[in-house]
Amino acid sequence: MIDTQSLKALFAARFGTEGVAYFAPGRINLIGEHTDYNGGFVFPGAVGQGISAVIRPQAGPTVRLFAADLGRSCTFDLTDEAGPSDVNFRYVYGVVRELLAAGVGVGGFDAVYGGDVPLGAGMSSSAALESCFAYALNDLFGGGLDRMALARIGQATEHRYVGVNCGIMDQFASLHGRKGSLVRLDCRSGRFEYYPWRPEGYRLLLINSCVKHELVGSPYNERRASCERVAAMARVETLRDCSWAMLNAMRVRIDAVDYRRATYVLGEHDRVVAVCDALEAGDYEEVGHQMYLTHEGLKREYEVSCPELDFLVDEARRLGVSGARLMGGGFGGCTINLVRSERCDRFLDEVQRTYHDRFGVDCQPIPVAIGDGARKL
Ligand code: GLA
Repeated sequence: MIDTQSLKALFAARFGTEGVAYFAPGRINLIGEHTDYNGGFVFPGAVGQGISAVIRPQAGPTVRLFAADLGRSCTFDLTDEAGPSDVNFRYVYGVVRELLAAGVGVGGFDAVYGGDVPLGAGMSSSAALESCFAYALNDLFGGGLDRMALARIGQATEHRYVGVNCGIMDQFASLHGRKGSLVRLDCRSGRFEYYPWRPEGYRLLLINSCVKHELVGSPYNERRASCERVAAMARVETLRDCSWAMLNAMRVRIDAVDYRRATYVLGEHDRVVAVCDALEAGDYEEVGHQMYLTHEGLKREYEVSCPELDFLVDEARRLGVSGARLMGGGFGGCTINLVRSERCDRFLDEVQRTYHDRFGVDCQPIPVAIGDGARKL
């Protein structure tokens, strides 16, 4: 991991001057998976891990980037229509172009960036990168956009410059995170509410399966297309407005796979509501129960799991973990586990051993602390 001081030193060595440092975090999500682009609820929180960038505006139309983690650099002009072909730099290029399109007077700049969100773990390293630059450039060039508008800049970057038709959750969380709180976002209205996250006697643990999660080129867009087909048949904007009665009335007319995907989405909506009730009652065992149900849905109905993630969730259940499920888009990445504090050590020891025995590779526990959203350092 590259800390801010090292990034500043790299910046000085490369560009012979000083820059301003910014940070934006990755995220976890307690529950509400693949609900964001269906107009539903999500329940994310920002984490301590994130992307930092040291940036300095400069005269002229040129952007010079150095990605310290990759050891690679890239240069493009603000007016460049095609942009870099290396996808790693397209995130920053896309943010720049989207900010310009939104009327922010972004000029040329130099930047060095890097971070500690594990890549491909489903913790939204790409949203952290987009949010970091969207926040920083808006600040440095006096754009005046609010955090929700900046989240939309990051989301549009994914759609138009990377090819992932993602929802708003990741960029939203990276920009709106608050230390010690999860935040429930209604993706239909854009309204959100902070929930203090103090589950006494429990801990949240992530376990990275180390199966690389990569949404670019994955069936993520196909899942979204299934949902949109069902919504169109129901004559509603998103599946948020499709009830179980409406879905079942259309059942014979819907493609069987699309129907299965839609049952997951409607079920996940019900589970988020159940988790909110459980949180209000302080019933973390019920929260955990709903997490296991979500995993079942993601595995059997939405089909975005993989054998490694299923194994981690089965092991969690066997070892008395209160709740576990794959987190994020799926196809690899992490599980999120709600564990009674006294069970943590045994769970971690055992799961690391059995995972290695089963797959011949190590899984990686990742500590979680709920932190603040994007900021100037
Ligand atoms: C990815 C996307 C999000 C969301 C999740 C699944 O992280 O970027 O918009 O759809 O998958 O909940």
